[in-house]
Amino acid sequence: MCGIIGVVQKRGDVAPFLHQALKRLEYRGYDSVGVTTISEGKLYMKKEKGKIEEVHRKLNLDDMPGSIGIGHTRWATHGIPSMLNSHPHFDCNNEISVVHNGVIDNFLELRTELRALGHKLKSETDTEVIPHLIEDYMKDGMDLLQAVKETTKRIEGTYAIVVMSTKENPNRIVCTRDGNPLVIGRKENVSYVSSDIPAFLPMTNDMILLLDGEIASLSTDEVRIEKLSDESEVKRESIKISWTADQAQKSGYPHFMLKEIHEQPEAIRNTLRLRDDVIKEAANIIHSSERVFMLAMGTSGHAAQAGQHMFASIAGVLPIVELASDFSDTVYGTLTEKDCIIAITQSGETTDTISAVKYAKEFGVKIVAITNVVGSSITRYADYTVLTQAGPEIGVAATKTFMVQLTSLALLALKIGELTKFVKPSIIKAKREFLERMPDIVSETISRNEELARRLAGQMYDKPSLLFLGRGISIATAEEGALKLKEIAYNHAEAYSAGESKHGPIALVQEGYPVIFVAPHDETRSRMIGNIMEMKARGGYTISVILKDDKELTGLSDYVFTIPNQVEAEFSTMAFIVPLQLFSYYMALRKGFDPDKPRNLAKSVTVL
Ligand code: G6P
Repeated sequence: MCGIIGVVQKRGDVAPFLHQALKRLEYRGYDSVGVTTISEGKLYMKKEKGKIEEVHRKLNLDDMPGSIGIGHTRWATHGIPSMLNSHPHFDCNNEISVVHNGVIDNFLELRTELRALGHKLKSETDTEVIPHLIEDYMKDGMDLLQAVKETTKRIEGTYAIVVMSTKENPNRIVCTRDGNPLVIGRKENVSYVSSDIPAFLPMTNDMILLLDGEIASLSTDEVRIEKLSDESEVKRESIKISWTADQAQKSGYPHFMLKEIHEQPEAIRNTLRLRDDVIKEAANIIHSSERVFMLAMGTSGHAAQAGQHMFASIAGVLPIVELASDFSDTVYGTLTEKDCIIAITQSGETTDTISAVKYAKEFGVKIVAITNVVGSSITRYADYTVLTQAGPEIGVAATKTFMVQLTSLALLALKIGELTKFVKPSIIKAKREFLERMPDIVSETISRNEELARRLAGQMYDKPSLLFLGRGISIATAEEGALKLKEIAYNHAEAYSAGESKHGPIALVQEGYPVIFVAPHDETRSRMIGNIMEMKARGGYTISVILKDDKELTGLSDYVFTIPNQVEAEFSTMAFIVPLQLFSYYMALRKGFDPDKPRNLAKSVTVL
């Protein structure tokens, strides 16, 4: 939540780059935007509420002088979206400019203190105390770096902060973090800092990690990192990122979400290429643990639910699936060093997931992370990381990262299955071979259902509420289908176990009420038939996601999405979710919403 960018270069104006970089970060928040640059010792600022392109049309964000600048795209926490609450924020003399991602917990007392000292604070934000604190330290004679260091001793909470000042000569940017992401990019004569890699990916894929408790000073010639605790210098090599700038472009698709749905076969293929020893190492940790928890939020939580079925049926291991946000309130300190957590988070930055992991580590619990972002926060808390290979995902609603989470969980389940011998080796081998076919199955599922999804959206877009039903692993699929629809098309959508649906949700069903069934050809199918009949008997409009040759269910349903091949039961979510992703996408489009930027949501949720 909130995207930050900073750049310092030898010559030329940075404003057009900042504008484009912010667009690449817009998935992190889009209720307001702001940029400052410095030219010849003078600070220039443009900021306003609204999405980046709206603000650009009004203010022309490209037209600002200066070869150093910072920018911010906001997801409001403290204070409504407004011009005054937009970042950057400034000191009393408009010499220090700050952008921030995170929450400053003690801002109220700091604000009172600063006001008593005569500072003029204009916004309702927690962030604004930062430039005023820096101002005071600089007044005492400190340079920007030292003043930011002192400021970090005063603020409590989580933050990624990027700062510049007109008083610094030569130009430099100072940045620091505690709990929120910042990555640094380098190329000749230019330094970048950002919340996420895609922001500077078209310029460089040389990345330097900045860790919590570190502060960096960026000039055109160098990046110098120090530890805040003892001011010792940190020597860190840059990492080459394999992501390409093209992957972070729409490449002819109208939206990132549609592009990312279409990239799923490739994402699975790349994740299946993960080295066997990577999976083995993670599998060993899980296998040697007494209890296995799977923790995640949002879509990643649905991957965990599906993963639970994979682990149970292939490896005979039944993980306990919990929302990371509620984990510490559920386990009541029963954790031991014999436990293990599989933390699933595509961004690697979700605060709920990181907090749960930190809590568990106090008990000596071992952590295996599944994430899509190299160097993300979760990787630093994990004993072992499985890095999924979706490439950058920009659409706020997760699609291809979900797919690769499922893929890596499948690989883990198979590897643990080899160790536990819960099923015969020949079965493991056959399932592993089947997994190799999933990219083609997903690809064909996309092509055979896209037009149907668009057509169904034309009929369903004004339905106020839809019910999604599944059994077994398909409850996870149904939940993910309902979440996608809520997230981007804003229809009320509820997912339920089809078995449980008779105990409440069926009361909602009347003539024309849409009920979506996820009904793969597995051992739950005959019971699903009963559930479809029950809903039909009450006038429900039945939409089923089924195997292509399932004539019986085709006959029973008003509308069907079809999967081209029989899919191994444990991997069914990978295929059966695809029509539901497409359906949500076309529902959002039909209703005139931007599926890439759903209201109130952000891709990376870095507040509790
Ligand atoms: C937000 C995003 C979701 C995502 C969830 C968890 O709510 O909008 O798409 O599933 O966070 O994110 P994570 O990065 O931990 O997978």
